Amino acid sequence: MVQSVRGMRDVMPADARLWRGVEDAARKVLTRFGYEEVQLPLLEQTELFARSVGESTDIVEKEMYILNDRDGESLALRPEGTAGCVRALNEQGLLYNQTQRVFYAGPMFRYERPQKGRYRQFSQIGAEAFGFPGPDLDAELIHICSEFWRALGVAEHITLQLNTLGSAESRRAHREALVAFLTPLREQLDEDSQRRLTTNPLRILDSKDSNTQAIVAEAPQLMDFLDDQGRAHFEQLCRHLDGIGQNYEINQNLVRGLDYYTHTVFEWVTTELGAQGTVCGGGRYDGLVEQLGGKATPAAGFGMGLDRAVLLCEAVSNNRWGHAVDVYICYAQDDMFVAASQLAQRLRQHDLQVRTHLGGGGFKKQLKRANSADANWAVLLGEDELQNGQITVKHLGTGEQQTLVESEAIERLLQS
Ligand code: HAM
Repeated sequence: MVQSVRGMRDVMPADARLWRGVEDAARKVLTRFGYEEVQLPLLEQTELFARSVGESTDIVEKEMYILNDRDGESLALRPEGTAGCVRALNEQGLLYNQTQRVFYAGPMFRYERPQKGRYRQFSQIGAEAFGFPGPDLDAELIHICSEFWRALGVAEHITLQLNTLGSAESRRAHREALVAFLTPLREQLDEDSQRRLTTNPLRILDSKDSNTQAIVAEAPQLMDFLDDQGRAHFEQLCRHLDGIGQNYEINQNLVRGLDYYTHTVFEWVTTELGAQGTVCGGGRYDGLVEQLGGKATPAAGFGMGLDRAVLLCEAVSNNRWGHAVDVYICYAQDDMFVAASQLAQRLRQHDLQVRTHLGGGGFKKQLKRANSADANWAVLLGEDELQNGQITVKHLGTGEQQTLVESEAIERLLQS
């Protein structure tokens, strides 16, 4: 048998239900905040990601799935959604002298080493907003995420980490100071950080190596290089978050793995998922639209990892997101199939999800099927019921059973 590709997962019905619940919750929160959905291609020109995510990031250096189209053009499966979203809105003329608040959902692809919470195909739901330079947008994006955690029932298990990278100029000045500080200590850094000293020194700040971390603790801090405007932006954001009662932890080593960020960056982290504890990451990217050829436009957004949000729900919440079906219809004899189907159809008109038993057999066998189908209720249709216009409803969780006229039975079924 041909096997699945490493790092690409199948989602079977029981898990798909939880997935759907998590994704629906995210969509609901986003639409309630007035964000509108956009649908974007999975394939983009490879160059788009080199120019946005950054040439010297792990994503572009070693994680992209690249293919040559039949005409020789180099295409990449999207490793993230922001670059494509900026490309699309700009191309459609939606960024010129107007504001936009949009979201997208779907698979992303990165050739990473698979482990729990880290896959080569994973799903994100991402939000991006354009044309708002102030920290009010940053606060709104964080607020959306926190509403989502609340909707999922995981809010107590996730915390917000916050930092600012300042303007491009502040970053440049900090970068120079950082390189000057680290160069004499080069030999003591881990191998990756030694390489990053020339390619992407900021990333050394979030090295996982303990020696490097100890050195970095003494290094020049980005906060000390902020200009007045950058500092004011961050302080105002903190005041907004205090105002909406949102807790946060300032983490000066939070730098994110993509190059396009300026000013605010944030991550939502949990201790429930082991090494892959970052469920959502985002921030401001005021330079990206212009960098990709559009008119300078302030922007910010976040990407929520749905795989990790689902894992977090499984780890901490008992919410099973309902049953596979509401009702499973059992009937006493084969020749009652038509009556059973007609009853099922009447129940479906009340928006109940109804599966009719197929394949014959006695009530015992049929009830077993109802249980393994993960139905909430079984409906039992016998000769007597059929003659009296009644049905018997059995709650499969509690075992409680009642024989009722159809209209009352329907009300009972709709109650839970
Ligand atoms: P990111 O931090 O690279 O940011 O990814 C966002 C989230 O996607 C992560 O926090 C994580 O939950 C999930 N994720 C990333 N890689 C994997 C993987 N291999 N397996 C499972 N989940 C994964 C971005 O992608 C930015 N585009 C976010 C953004 C939007 N910034 C501004 N706007």
